[in-house]
Amino acid sequence: MDWLKEALFVREMAMENNRMFGDALPMIASENILSPLCKEMLITDFHGRYAEGNPGKRYYQGCKFFDEVESKAIELAKILFNAKYADVRPTSGTVANMAVFKAWTKPSDKVTVLDTADGAHISFGKWGAAGLRGLELHTYPFDSEAMNIDVDGAIATIRKVEPKLALFGQSVFLFPTPLKELADAAHEVGAKVVYDAAHVLGLIAGGKFQQPLKEGADVMTGSTHKTLPGPQGGVILANKTRDESQDMKYLDWGVFPGVTSSYHLHHVAAKAIAFAEHLAFGKQYAEQIIKNAKKLAEELYNHGFDVLGSNHGFTESHQILFKVGKEKGGEAAQKLEEAGIIANMNMVPGDEHPMRPSGIRLGVQELTRLGMKEGEMEEIAKFFKRVLIDGEEPAKVKKDVVEFKKNYRKIHYCFYEGEDAYEYIKLVQK
Ligand SMILES: Cc1ncc(COP(=O)(O)O)c(C=O)c1O
Repeated sequence: MDWLKEALFVREMAMENNRMFGDALPMIASENILSPLCKEMLITDFHGRYAEGNPGKRYYQGCKFFDEVESKAIELAKILFNAKYADVRPTSGTVANMAVFKAWTKPSDKVTVLDTADGAHISFGKWGAAGLRGLELHTYPFDSEAMNIDVDGAIATIRKVEPKLALFGQSVFLFPTPLKELADAAHEVGAKVVYDAAHVLGLIAGGKFQQPLKEGADVMTGSTHKTLPGPQGGVILANKTRDESQDMKYLDWGVFPGVTSSYHLHHVAAKAIAFAEHLAFGKQYAEQIIKNAKKLAEELYNHGFDVLGSNHGFTESHQILFKVGKEKGGEAAQKLEEAGIIANMNMVPGDEHPMRPSGIRLGVQELTRLGMKEGEMEEIAKFFKRVLIDGEEPAKVKKDVVEFKKNYRKIHYCFYEGEDAYEYIKLVQK
């Protein structure tokens, strides 16, 4: 075997991937692109180093510059989220959730949660982190017309179950959770309130979605690479310090040694930069994301798509969800990909099997970061119509998508904006 050839094959695939996304309309709601300064952090020497523990209290030497970086990341996260406690070590949103479970539950404890078909993430499900911890899951009722938790039903569930944790936050997340009332009910029965902000973290930080820590959440977890457009990673935020509460000490230990060892120091550096960028640009970015999502949803609806939440303004977030016919989500997503539109099939309320869903979920956060506004959403809705309603050949539509995308490759809402987002950085010349 020619091992160099094998290695270069992988590199070629990475380049092809850059080209594919460069030509496409990337609309997966959990994704985003990195700013030039964040990207640079990923190839620093921080990659591959170890720093277990907390700044100033390490198990390894050689951490003095990283201590500065992690302390800065914590400081900026606290400002960005108006929080007293920030842990930037979780390596993903799932890991952040696992740390909370590790810290605040024991196996067989009861938790209340939404069903995955109603939008909950798998880390709150029996096949994910909650199941791994052996938690007993009790689901809230869902109002599929309003596309939100049924508040009265959920309060009744919380009162009946008396869970250890009441879990909120969704992967399909069109509207803010009515958190205040739910959190009051949870606290009455002694439950802690966990709000998973993975998807909407950048909207919350931009002040354009609900403010969970003010509305009763005891802890907020999140991913740092979705609407908060940083490196892949997680974060935990709360409003009590380690010194104020034993629970927060457990949370700290839940992260380390609970669910991390080294925690990808290059990503922590990029998180710090992403927080600074979001402090500078997050408000305008979040505002435009929501305007774009609303506009696209409205246009799709006017073209005849069955967009959910139609009686409630379609969406208050970066997401749109529409039905394409019973169990036809996979087929529709495939056709869209052939037309250069990257989106995912998604369960809608009433679906039973995650591999045979009836919906398509969209997110406009990446398109917005490329400088698109409401006018561009009108054009994009027409591409959807051509593929999924008019039944036009996807390859034909793709030609127009590629042409359209040529004007939207530059990154916005960050320092050194205007760089090509999809250019491949070559460190090794062949
Ligand atoms: C609500 C929610 N929580 C957690 C996660 C997991 O995040 P990560 O991919 O960072 O582990 C996701 C992923 O999309 C999510 O939607």
